[in-house]
This record gives sequence, C-alpha cells and structure tokens, in this order.
Amino acid sequence: MRVKMMAAALTGLLAVSALAGCGGKDDAGSGKDDGKLVLGFSQVGAESGWRTANTNSIQTAAADAGIELKFSDAQGKQEKQIEAIRSFITQKVDVIAFSPVVTSGWDSVLKDAKDAGIPVILTDRAVDSQDKSLYKTFLGSDFVKEGTEAGNWLVKQNEGKTTPVNVVELQGTVGAAPAIDRQKGFAEAIKANPNITVVKSQSGNFTRAEGKTVMEGILQSTPKIDVLYAHNDDMGLGAIEAIEAAGKKPGKDITIITVDAVKDGMTALADGKINFIVECSPLLGPQLMDLAKKVHAGETVEPRILTEETTFTQEQAKAALPDRKY
Ligand code: AHR
Repeated sequence: MRVKMMAAALTGLLAVSALAGCGGKDDAGSGKDDGKLVLGFSQVGAESGWRTANTNSIQTAAADAGIELKFSDAQGKQEKQIEAIRSFITQKVDVIAFSPVVTSGWDSVLKDAKDAGIPVILTDRAVDSQDKSLYKTFLGSDFVKEGTEAGNWLVKQNEGKTTPVNVVELQGTVGAAPAIDRQKGFAEAIKANPNITVVKSQSGNFTRAEGKTVMEGILQSTPKIDVLYAHNDDMGLGAIEAIEAAGKKPGKDITIITVDAVKDGMTALADGKINFIVECSPLLGPQLMDLAKKVHAGETVEPRILTEETTFTQEQAKAALPDRKY
C-alpha cells in the first residue's frame, strides 16, 4: 500500500514538472502540451503585396522552426491588435510579436504583457513608448533611410537644374511608423533644393484602391505634377491607373518613385512605368523565429535589428525580376 502511494505521488510530481516547461499552455485550457514554443503574432492586416509576403514569411518560418503560431489579423485596426494581444496574454503564450498599425497608444497593453512575464518583440514597425523595457527588441527596416534614398535619387536626377519640380506625395496610413519616417527622410533629402517642392501630400492608406482614388482627385486639382513619391508600391500602382486614365504616361510624363520592391512594383519598374524603387524587405520570418527562441530562453538580444535593403533602377529591376521571390 505504501509503495503504491509513493508511486502515485511520483507520477503526480513528474506531471507537474512537465507542465512547468511548456509556457503554461495547459493553464490556458488548450488541453495541448506538445512542448512547442507558442508565439502569438498580431499582424496589421492585408493592405498590400508587402503585407501578404510578410505574413507568408512568418507563417512559413514558424512551421520550419517548429514553433506553434497563433496568428491574428487586425484588419488595419489598432483596437483589434490590442484585443489580440490581450487574448495572447490570457492564453499564456510564450512570446508575443506584433507589427503595430500606428506608433502611439501601446503602453498599457505592453505593460500587461510585461507584468504577465511574456516577452514582446516588435516586428516591421516601431511604437513610440518611452519605456523601452516594455519590449525586448525591434526587428525591421530603417524607414527614415528609405525616405532619404528616395529623395536622394530625385535630387541626383535634378542635379544642376533650377526649374521647378512639383512633387505629389502619397503617404501611408496616418500615424504609422513607415508613413511618418518615409515622409521625414524624403523631406530631409530634398530640403537643400528649393526648386523641388512637395505640392500635395495625402494619405492613400498603403492600399492600391486608395492610391488610385486619391491620385484621381489630385490629378484634377493640381495642374502641374512632375513627380509622384508613393510610400509603397501598391499606392503607386493604384496611382498609375489614375494617371493612365487621365491620358498621361506614368514614368514619362510623371516620374514615379515608390518603396517596397514587391513583384508587381518591380514589374512596373522594369516596364518603365515606375522610375525608382527603394526596397523594404518583408522577409522577416526566419529572424523573428530565431529571436522568439532566444527571448524565450532568456537570452539577451540586440534592442534594434535592422533589415538589409537596397534600391532598384529600371535596369536593375529587369535583372532582379526573374529571381524575385515575392
Ligand atoms: O510597414 C511596412 C509597410 O506596410 C510597407 O511598406 C507597406 O507596403 C505596408 O503596408
């Protein structure tokens, strides 16, 4: 009898210690404990080709790394992202990652994650929280540099000229890090050239449809447009439709600069409808999985991890297109 009781107690002890190493998943009532790291990821939405490629990269990399991914699509709404993060906290996932729709308004939910002992990784976009201890690292592009590259190219094209250059800017989502930073970098790059002026700057929300409608309005209200600077390929591609419908030649009558370098953008560049693209890589999945494993293991990671990127002219796009993965 005594031997039986001791055996039962030992079995109970073993069961408890097995649970302790699994990030508390059973506590959440999932009834599942396969020992896999659980990553809760809140995505912005599906607003662009870039975003689709980013989602694919994250889902594929999670499967390859043996990580259980709890994926949530915020459909472009901050309140949905906050809801998703709170749900990840309740489910006691091991790590939370998200790409914030806008920069502001995250302190409270990030504090809840920290209090629950769940490490957070920012991917693609930054938050403006002053308390940097609310997240472990930020993996993504330097958006200011992307804007600067776009502006520098334009300045170079106009070197030695003093004739006025009227620029229309299609901004990304209002309040989003890439919209704020790409505007800033571009403005900095052109500021020493008084002949280059941004005559209109409006948001197209990073979508093709809004890029088109916003550009239709601008074409009607703005008599002289020399350059279109769109904060992403999709808005640029939408604007191209509007420009063609207005009887103008994109890439010739209006010089077009965009950011991203997704396949559709690169195709338009190779076809001469876009003149220059600054790359923003969406392939963040493998690095994110690596970071998730490290922060879960309690390892220290770099607070800022930059993505490697390049730029493309029309000739470079023709050469790169056959191997372009997204
Ligand atoms: O945050 C990255 C930006 O968001 C991409 O440039 C844009 O296409 C996307 O929607």
